[in-house]
Amino acid sequence: MRRRALALPAILISYSLIYILIWNKSSEKWLRTFPSFQAFNNPKRISELFWSSGEEIRENLLSSTVVSKPSLYLSSTTNRNRKGSSEYRRTSSPSELKRQINITPIPIIYKENFTKLPKWDFEDVYVQSSEARRPVCSASLQNSKDEKFQKAAMWNIQLWFHNGHLDVREWNRLAHFNNPFGFMEYNYTVIKKAVDLIPKPIYNQLLPVPSNSADGCIRCAVVGTGGILNGSRMGKEIDSHDYIFRVNGAVTKGFEEDVGNKTSVYVHTSFSLSQAIFNLEDYGFQHIPQDEGIKYVMIPEGLRDFEWLDGLLQNETMTYGSYNGYAPLTFYSDRLQKDTFYVLHPDFLRYVRNRFLPSERLEQPYWAIYRPTNGAFTLFLALHTCDIVDVYGFITEDYSKYSNYYFERTTKTNVIFYLNHDYELEIKTWKKLHNAGIINLYQRQEQ
Ligand SMILES: *[C@@H]1O[C@H](CO)[C@@H](O)[C@H](O)[C@H]1NC(C)=O
Ligand SMILES: *[C@@H]1O[C@H](CO)[C@@H](O)[C@H](O)[C@H]1NC(C)=O
Ligand SMILES: *[C@@H]1O[C@H](CO)[C@@H](O)[C@H](O)[C@H]1NC(C)=O
Ligand SMILES: *[C@@H]1O[C@H](CO)[C@@H](O)[C@H](O)[C@H]1NC(C)=O
Ligand SMILES: *[C@@H]1O[C@H](CO)[C@@H](O)[C@H](O)[C@H]1NC(C)=O
Repeated sequence: MRRRALALPAILISYSLIYILIWNKSSEKWLRTFPSFQAFNNPKRISELFWSSGEEIRENLLSSTVVSKPSLYLSSTTNRNRKGSSEYRRTSSPSELKRQINITPIPIIYKENFTKLPKWDFEDVYVQSSEARRPVCSASLQNSKDEKFQKAAMWNIQLWFHNGHLDVREWNRLAHFNNPFGFMEYNYTVIKKAVDLIPKPIYNQLLPVPSNSADGCIRCAVVGTGGILNGSRMGKEIDSHDYIFRVNGAVTKGFEEDVGNKTSVYVHTSFSLSQAIFNLEDYGFQHIPQDEGIKYVMIPEGLRDFEWLDGLLQNETMTYGSYNGYAPLTFYSDRLQKDTFYVLHPDFLRYVRNRFLPSERLEQPYWAIYRPTNGAFTLFLALHTCDIVDVYGFITEDYSKYSNYYFERTTKTNVIFYLNHDYELEIKTWKKLHNAGIINLYQRQEQ
């Protein structure tokens, strides 16, 4: 019943996080050269690995960035990564500490200065975790034979963002990427304060193998809010999974027959959560899911999410920012605890965009507003935390036959294509993952 645990100051410093070697090299490089906006004319392209071969890019990345720096190198024996990459443990030698003290946040980089996505040579470099899950399930999607998928996937990518992750050096890397993929145009002091409040997850693995599992497999259903679920009678099937992911306006009351009634992981942004509460009451959404054992996963999509975290993790009523006057904790339930709350790492979000959903919009003047949908991030989270993933209520080619949302039962609404997403690309991607046997996507034949 107590939510006190959450208000604990963030005192846990993580030593478990492992950085790949290349970052340390790149950081020095831009410290010397910034601000020269080299990226303006940088011919390098990010890897669209899942959609094209991307071979050349990977080679480039590895050969141009992997260097050794013996004084900081601690161990290579735990390194199970791809050939060619090395890792750092994030402990500081006295000389490194001195160097860190001397660096300051880089001058602000403005989105406006770029007519398309700037491509830094460390664009496709991500923090990796030493605690990554190693599935025992032989049918795990991690064992997929799909070559492009395997090339694009990084099974040890750092999923969670928490205290201990942000110092000036790391800021100076992440400040090169627009939100939610980094902190371009943001203020170090403001973001740092919020990140330092985020507790390190007690369980790095979001979902344990069920105790009654015979094959060691984690079976998950990911349930979007798509109108395709109206009248589907998929509720029972959805609830039969070990874990059920839901996102945004995850109404279940009154819709159990079609969408089930269990929620194990609820994924949200501060905006999607508060909007669901404010707007969906008429559809029976009085509060966010609060099943026993539920995990809450937040996508930090922008500044307002860090403000939200500031209020949430100190149990305060906001006195500034987008949620002025609101107390974020009141939007959750008693189920929100230090061991049930997770915030996604900007590197994970950027990895999903770069490797799986690299929209053509990134080449256009409004590049900075493009990001995958919350549903897309949820699906990729499931791909990195489950072995078998069945997907329901996600957009399909025949979307125009259905309402925007499954809870719009009585009048058919048109699916709204918001400018900040690329629905055509997501339609193609879900289909492709389905055809490759990586997910099982719910589609309807009838009608
Ligand atoms: C959060 O603050 C409210 C109002 O001050 C208080 O009633 C509640 O007990 C607090 N919750 C926790 C978990 O500290
Ligand atoms: C970048 O954008 C900022 C903010 O709009 C502007 O003040 C600055 O002059 C621009 N810099 C360049 C190099 O265009
Ligand atoms: C960042 O925010 C802090 C705290 O609100 C403020 O004091 C500081 O001036 C800001 N820095 C910049 C560069 O705007
Ligand atoms: C969900 O529905 C099942 C029956 O389909 C019922 O036994 C169970 O109590 C329901 N769970 C919740 C949390 O409502
Ligand atoms: C939802 O499903 C029901 C039952 O199949 C159907 O009668 C209704 O027309 C559907 N609503 C919309 C908006 O498609």
